Amino acid sequence: MSEIKNVGVLGGGLMGAGIAQVAAASGFTTRVREVSDAYAQKARGGIEKRLAGAIEKGKLTAAQRDATLANLSYTTAVSDLKDCDIVIEAVVEELDVKNAMWKELDALCPPRTIFASNTSSLTIAAMAAATTRGDRMVGLHFFNPVPVMKLVEVVKTVTTSSETFTRAFEFAKKLGKEPIAAKDNSGFVVNLLLVPYLIDAINALEHGVASVADIDKGMQLGTGYPMGPFTLLDFVGLDTTYKIAEIMFDEYREKRYAPPPLLKRMVMAGMFGRKSGKGFYDYAVDPPRVSELGL
Ligand code: 3HC
Repeated sequence: MSEIKNVGVLGGGLMGAGIAQVAAASGFTTRVREVSDAYAQKARGGIEKRLAGAIEKGKLTAAQRDATLANLSYTTAVSDLKDCDIVIEAVVEELDVKNAMWKELDALCPPRTIFASNTSSLTIAAMAAATTRGDRMVGLHFFNPVPVMKLVEVVKTVTTSSETFTRAFEFAKKLGKEPIAAKDNSGFVVNLLLVPYLIDAINALEHGVASVADIDKGMQLGTGYPMGPFTLLDFVGLDTTYKIAEIMFDEYREKRYAPPPLLKRMVMAGMFGRKSGKGFYDYAVDPPRVSELGL
């Protein structure tokens, strides 16, 4: 088994930047590909800000920050990831977009390169089928915020070889994460259970069971969740959750995955949660207040 040294990350958004930060901090030479220089700079800025925050808290030394930053580089060309030992994809949940990148890299990368997707809800099989390296395609599903959340789901699809799975599992450990093995079912383990819970919270709100604040308080104080479902929805992103629910509903044709009308309306209105400044809560004020949703 060849050793993983060079890591490529497709996408420098919330998840991609987090994955790149963790990989670089774990000693891997890491290159992030974004669609434009502006987005690449945004990814870089976010990582530098988080590292500066950790230094301020005394959790990181300046030398550790410098070592992490020295491991990071950015590009807008997918082809610049061709020499990586593993490429982790964290782009938008659109199969065509992901597969166009996989096809391009499949033609350029050496045989040793593993392709790993951070997809939340698409199947790894649907990506493996677009390449000639189905045996080296695996899922590596991280959780937001990546530098904090310990879990990584390592997903084996029908074509994934045992060697690829083991290399990916060991790589996740080297990132300081706790990997679990999951089968290639849409949603894997966590989203299979989490998405219906988030959907149920929205349905409960629409049915007038309780207010946003009280449902959040109920789950936080009654079950010890760090965030109530609406705070978590805003944190993950309503657009992202909507997309995930749609894909899972399409896969399983079960009502429990159907995106609720309220979620759809909010996404149409550009209310994506924290990232857009407004979702179930309005983040223009501190502390955030519950949004008026016409309910
Ligand atoms: N990025 C990096 N680090 C962050 C962060 C961020 N966005 N937000 C918080 N942190 C760090 C803080 O710096 C702090 O670090 P420290 O302990 O080293 O000082 C630590 O997290 C704790 O932060 P805070 O004290 O400010 O706040 P909390 O104690 O409330 O923790 C939280 C914040 C870790 C986000 C916690 O509320 C939590 O665990 N929430 C649930 C998150 C969750 O469920 N994530 C999974 C979502 S589902 C998913 O990602 C799958 C996808 O497919 C949808």
